[in-house]
Amino acid sequence: MHKYSFKTILKNIKQYKKELILANFIAFVAVIISTPVPLLMPLLVDEVLLNKPGIVVETIDTLFGKENEAYVYIICVLVSVLILRLLFFILNLYQTKLFMIISKNITCKIREELLKHISKVSLREFESLGDGSITSKLLIDVDTIDHFLGSVISRLVISILMIVGVGAVLIAIHWKLALFILLLNPFVIVITTKIARKVSLLKKKENIAYELFSDSLSETLKLFLQIKSLNKEKIFFGRVIKYASNLRDSSIEFGYKSDRASRFSFLVFLSGFEIFRAASILVVAYSNLSIGLMLAIFSYLWVMMSPIQEVLNIQYAYHNALSSLKRINVIFALKTEFIDTNCLNPFKDNLTNSIEIKNLSFSYEENTDILKSLNIKIKRGEKIAIVGASGSGKTTLVGLLAGLYPIQDGDILYDGVSIKTVGLNIVRENIFLILQNPQLFNDTIKNNLIFGNNTTNEQLDFALKIAQLEEFIGSLKYGLETKIGRDGIKLSGGQKQRLSIARMVIQNPNIVILDESTSALDIYMESRLFEALEEYLKDKTTIIVAHRISTVRKADFIYVLENGKIMEEGDSESLIKQDGLFSHYMKENKGKK
Ligand SMILES: Nc1ncnc2c1ncn2[C@@H]1O[C@H](COP(=O)(O)OP(=O)(O)O)[C@@H](O)[C@H]1O
Ligand SMILES: [Mg+2]
Repeated sequence: MHKYSFKTILKNIKQYKKELILANFIAFVAVIISTPVPLLMPLLVDEVLLNKPGIVVETIDTLFGKENEAYVYIICVLVSVLILRLLFFILNLYQTKLFMIISKNITCKIREELLKHISKVSLREFESLGDGSITSKLLIDVDTIDHFLGSVISRLVISILMIVGVGAVLIAIHWKLALFILLLNPFVIVITTKIARKVSLLKKKENIAYELFSDSLSETLKLFLQIKSLNKEKIFFGRVIKYASNLRDSSIEFGYKSDRASRFSFLVFLSGFEIFRAASILVVAYSNLSIGLMLAIFSYLWVMMSPIQEVLNIQYAYHNALSSLKRINVIFALKTEFIDTNCLNPFKDNLTNSIEIKNLSFSYEENTDILKSLNIKIKRGEKIAIVGASGSGKTTLVGLLAGLYPIQDGDILYDGVSIKTVGLNIVRENIFLILQNPQLFNDTIKNNLIFGNNTTNEQLDFALKIAQLEEFIGSLKYGLETKIGRDGIKLSGGQKQRLSIARMVIQNPNIVILDESTSALDIYMESRLFEALEEYLKDKTTIIVAHRISTVRKADFIYVLENGKIMEEGDSESLIKQDGLFSHYMKENKGKK
């Protein structure tokens, strides 16, 4: 199983070695430049105000001659400090940009890998997650990781360097006091890490609430028409609102508790800060520390604060990123389909194929067989029909034949070659299953028809003619370039079904399966369509799943499916009693099967 961990991310980061080295070098220079800054002004207190000339005064004297006025020293130091701060600012901008590019590239790569994985996941596995949960993982969780990487990559190095740099200066000033400060600081970090762990649990709760909300929202919006037509807005939107308010509750909880945690850690830090200041004054009072150096220590305490806070924030971000990684791995844990590229291909070099269904059983959930040991033989070019009550397993059967799901028990053979050795991707490419409710893209009619194929205008016209769409397309102002709206909302059910038949003609598969795919057409249109299809399908093995007798009248064989079983001739009597339509039909076709 493919699994994403910080190790994987680290491997990806290493691909940006050159940028990383450059950015880290800049960070290093920036720290070198900024570290002496807090020291310079306080040194003036000692050297100029308290009249104890030292390194600053001596340096300026060698540059500008001896015995200058106080303002000369002050202006010199001010100008140098301002220049150093400006340089630090510019270097910081540059390194942030470099680090940003690295982290954004890495998160983009995570998204890319997730999407590639999802595209290979089997249908069953995909259905187990739901698109809302996948969407939120791709959006929120990847963002959380991005936030972590952005702060870690760009701030961790510079923060640690700053802490080290300041630590070194403090030790140089007064090593005992510096040790006191540096040793006490880790306690602050430990206290706040513990708080961070708790906060990450709350974040998890918030993410779950967000996922539930987004799932129910996207479903409700998708079914908007259905909900409206049943006048059930209150119930369905009420449910979404309930999820929204759950989300509010967990957001508030996360919000104020994480705020409380960060304020508390700040309080801990400030308390430490006051203790360190008191300690510095004590050292001045009872030891040899000068007032200027004491003031320098005060400013270093402030300078240290932001990198320490940043290191702490990285800990929060780390805990969030860790749970996001776990959630992302749920997607990576979805099993992909086995795709064998060297497998047998009975479809190649053949215009059509025979099908043999052998003892085929299938269940979605354990112990409830939807299909029970089916046996059907279909010769090349034969037309067979499958009829049966709804829920009898017709769609499941044709879904297996078209390679949507892997088979479980029994076998399906195309020209004698088992589906297990063919590979489902090849089966799908060569067997076209036209569904009752075809799914369409929010795009033009033309793009929905050609579906990524290279299609000539002649092929298009031919397909439109067979699918009885010429007249309809001709009546549209923009013809084939008409946009059909989300899920093809601007088309009628029958138009969508005909579009999907035209799509089949364009794909020109070896075997055609129509699963109640003309159910939305009136009888007149349906018979015209089948007339046109008859010639096209003449040599193609065809399976028609239907309700109406007229639809299957021309089939060579008719199979009646009940509760996942092919009814024997005798069994059909029970069906005859249940269903007037079938009884009429069965009498008419007696002897045909
Ligand atoms: N994806 C699925 N997961 C679980 N059960 C399913 C799924 N699809 C269909 N079923 C169940 O399988 C049975 C047969 O469904 P189906 O093959 O669609 O019947 P038909 O097309 O004859 O109406 C039904 O009881 C249905 O509830
Ligand atoms: Mg069905």
